[in-house]
Amino acid sequence: MDKTFWNERFAEPGYMYGNQPNDFLKEHAYVLKESGKVLCLAEGEGRNAVFLASLGYDVSSVDFSDSGLKKTQILATEHNVSVRTVCADLIDYNLQQEAWDGMVMIFGHFSKELRTSLFQRIESGLKKGGTFLMEVYAKEQLSHGTGGPKSIEFLYDQLELEEAFRGFSKVAIQAVTREIKEGIYHHGISSTLQVIATK
Ligand SMILES: C[S@@+](CC[C@H](N)C(=O)[O-])C[C@H]1O[C@@H](n2cnc3c(N)ncnc32)[C@H](O)[C@@H]1O
Repeated sequence: MDKTFWNERFAEPGYMYGNQPNDFLKEHAYVLKESGKVLCLAEGEGRNAVFLASLGYDVSSVDFSDSGLKKTQILATEHNVSVRTVCADLIDYNLQQEAWDGMVMIFGHFSKELRTSLFQRIESGLKKGGTFLMEVYAKEQLSHGTGGPKSIEFLYDQLELEEAFRGFSKVAIQAVTREIKEGIYHHGISSTLQVIATK
């Protein structure tokens, strides 16, 4: 699932994961500081970024798909909000040091090497007291076939996440089986991991 794959997917008409925010983010956005700078990682067509901008956050959205980011700008205009979009590969994107009040990643699935490096950069990029929110598919998702990567190495397990976030001051990691209805590609009973980690 490289940049070409995602550009082709997002070139299809409509919003592939819907235009509404992810349920977990919508329910837990209150854990973010009341205001401030939020970075959405691997944010595709921008449904979560636009939701956070509508709550009043100063939102930046990074993804390597320019066709996804174009749709982010269209969705933001429709909602009368502004989102800063950055077209970059997370493999070497500089998240800056202690720059963000919050970060969000919904269904960002990469190689183990990129995950390890990204989680380290997320920790250093957050301000002290800043919070990272994430929902991703768990390895158990392979048996559901209702969305997400088809190879186990791109899926997450709880131990990996416990290790990645052990330096944070407060961490909650929950394994969940729930029904997801997000556009045409995420549909049905799904196994996910939900993370709320405060630096
Ligand atoms: C399943 S989509 C999720 C999009 C969005 N977060 C949402 O919930 O609607 C995965 C996203 O990860 C992005 N992505 C995958 N690998 C990436 C990388 N190495 N650098 C930047 N973006 C990446 C894709 O372009 C795509 O937008």
